[in-house]
Amino acid sequence: MAKNKKLQIAFIGGGMIANAHMSNFHDDRRTEIRGLAELNKTALKNTGAEYGIPHLTTDYKALLKDPEIDAIVVCTPPGLHCKIGIDVLRAGKHLIMEKPLTRTPAEARRLLKEARKHPQLLATGCSCRHARLQPKYPFIKKLIDSGKIGEVYFIHHRAVSRQGRPGIEYHPTAKWFLDREVAGGGPLYDWGVYDLSFHLGILDEPEFKKCEAFCINGLDKVPAGTKTFTVEEHGGALLVFKNGLKYYWERASNAHQDIPNQTSIYGTKGGLRFTYTSFGDVHEVEHFYVGNNGKGEAKKKVLKVNMSRHEKGDMHAVGQAMIKALQGKGPVPMPLELELKNLEILDAVYKAANW
Ligand SMILES: NC(=O)c1ccc[n+]([C@@H]2O[C@H](COP(=O)([O-])OP(=O)(O)OC[C@H]3O[C@@H](n4cnc5c(N)ncnc54)[C@H](O)[C@@H]3O)[C@@H](O)[C@H]2O)c1
Repeated sequence: MAKNKKLQIAFIGGGMIANAHMSNFHDDRRTEIRGLAELNKTALKNTGAEYGIPHLTTDYKALLKDPEIDAIVVCTPPGLHCKIGIDVLRAGKHLIMEKPLTRTPAEARRLLKEARKHPQLLATGCSCRHARLQPKYPFIKKLIDSGKIGEVYFIHHRAVSRQGRPGIEYHPTAKWFLDREVAGGGPLYDWGVYDLSFHLGILDEPEFKKCEAFCINGLDKVPAGTKTFTVEEHGGALLVFKNGLKYYWERASNAHQDIPNQTSIYGTKGGLRFTYTSFGDVHEVEHFYVGNNGKGEAKKKVLKVNMSRHEKGDMHAVGQAMIKALQGKGPVPMPLELELKNLEILDAVYKAANW
C-alpha cells in the first residue's frame, strides 16, 4: 500500500454484522470502504448508498480482482467462511474473518494452512470482540497473575436465556443460524468462541484433555419459520484440562431457566465473580478472600473496572485493533491458531454430547 494512502477495506456479506462494522471503517481517517459484495440487491444498494461505497457487486470474486482493495472483512454465514477466506488470501488481500472462524475445525485447518502460505498478509478472526479486546480481560488476568487468588482449580460460567434464539427471536430473518450445516452450531458454537477466548486466555490457554457434555433442542413449540432447525438450544460441558483445571460451562439461547452471563473463578486463596462481556452496565469484579492472610474472616471486595477507554464499545474496539494490525502497528487481534484450538474444544464438546 502506498504511504499516506487510506487503507481500502471491502466487505463480503452486507448483513447485520457488516453494518455494525461499517461505521468504524467509514469514520476512521485511516480507512475507506472501497467495496461490498452482497447477494441481496436491495441491501447492496442501500448499504452502498449509506456509506458511499464505490465498488458494489453481487459476485464477491469481482472484489478479489479489484487492485485498489487492501483488506476484506468476511461477514457471510459461517458455512462460506473457509472457501471465501482461502479465495481472499489467494487474491493477495488481508483477511478479517467474522466469528466463528469456520463451520468445523477441519475447515479452520485448511484456512490456516493457506494463511501460512501468505505470511505478508494479515489473517485474523473476530472472537476477541467481547473477550480479550476489552478492559475486563487484562484487569482479571492481572489479578490472577498476581497470585492473589492462588492456584485456579475451577471455573464456572453460565449464560442461559429463554427464547433468545438467533434466527427466531433475535435476527429472525437470518434462518441460517438454525442450520448446523451452515452455522456450525447453536449457542455453544456461536458464543463458545467468545467464552473460550476470554476464559482460557486469562488462564494462559491450558491444554484441553477431555469433557462430558450435553446438548438439546426442541424445548418449546414456537414455529421456527424454517424446516431446518438442527442446532442445539441448550448445551453444557465439564471440561478437564491437562493441568488439572476443571471448567463447567453452560450456554442456552432457549431453556426453562434464566441465568445471566456470570463467571466464577475459584482459586486456592480467593475467588472472583464477574460478567465477562463488556456490554451492560456491570463492570465490577467481586473478589472473595480471607482476611489476616487466610487466618481471619471471609471477606469480599468489589473492584471497579475502568471502562473509559472502551466507551465506544466492542465493535469500535475490534475495528481499531484491525486497523492497527493492518498498519503493522499492533498484534494480530485473534490469531487463526487460537481460533482453531478453541474450535477443536467446541468440536470435542459436541462429540461428547453425541450431537
Ligand atoms: N448478528 C450478530 O449479532 C452477529 C454478531 C457477531 C458476529 N456475527 C457473525 O457474522 C457473520 C454474519 O452474520 P450476520 O448476523 O451479519 O448474518 P446476516 O444473515 O445478517 O448477513 C449475512 C449476509 O451475507 C450475505 N451473503 C451470503 N452469501 C453471500 C455471498 N456468497 N456473497 C455475498 N454475500 C453473501 C447474505 O445475503 C446476508 O446479507 C456470521 O459469521 C455471524 O456469526 C453475527
